Amino acid sequence: MGNAPGPFGLLSHRPPVPSGMGPLGGLPGLWYGSRTMNANASQGAQAAVQTPRADREKLLGQRGRVIWLTGLSGAGKTTIARAMDAHLHGMGRLCAVLDGDVVRTGLNRGLGFSEEDRHENIRRIAEVARILLDTGVIVLVAVISPAEAMRQNARKIVGAADFFEVYVRCSIEVCNQRDTKGLYKKAQAGQLKQFTGVSAPYEPPAAPDLIIDTDQMGVQQATEMLLGAVGDLGAPRA
Ligand code: ADX
Repeated sequence: MGNAPGPFGLLSHRPPVPSGMGPLGGLPGLWYGSRTMNANASQGAQAAVQTPRADREKLLGQRGRVIWLTGLSGAGKTTIARAMDAHLHGMGRLCAVLDGDVVRTGLNRGLGFSEEDRHENIRRIAEVARILLDTGVIVLVAVISPAEAMRQNARKIVGAADFFEVYVRCSIEVCNQRDTKGLYKKAQAGQLKQFTGVSAPYEPPAAPDLIIDTDQMGVQQATEMLLGAVGDLGAPRA
């Protein structure tokens, strides 16, 4: 190859950095991790060059957070997540919404509603939330996540300090009446198996950071309540 640029362009011409962390000369903001570009391919996910989260948050002028909305189908999780997204976007905050119904059409296509599949659904969503969090994004997750163990696992993946759990509470009777997607009707007719609240369990969170009773308030009030509770999303982490 001689002096021709390698696959990593200029990087391939630089002398190897012995070990540990150190700035890569001439390229401000690039840090060389303890692994080299030639590190074992299986370690590739742990990229050698990583911008610290605090730098990304500084760039965005906000603090990343994962707001995890749990509750029955039809309780209003998606509605609140979208309203929050619109409101925060209007304030100049970068958000992402991870919605169960949507994620299940792409990343989690093929997963069903057995306990095992739901656990995997939640695990993957938590992992994506974690990546976005590390990018400084405010992540709004709207998934039933019916078991305490699933949510505990999500909390562990994301990190407890950045995980804000919201119980979007609504009685099964009201969800049934709303039945916006017609799924309760199908579940009761036995056409839909393992439907949460009908033929599959939902464990309310033991100690959520916030409870929003959506059979007692509208989306605007719910959004205001959540905004008030979640704290300052504008100050990057120290
Ligand atoms: S979770 O239990 O794995 O967290 P998730 O939030 O991703 O569920 O998906 C729930 C959505 O899938 C519901 O809002 C509903 O539209 C749809 N759905 C289809 N079948 C079921 C079912 N058996 N139980 C619950 N939701 C279902």
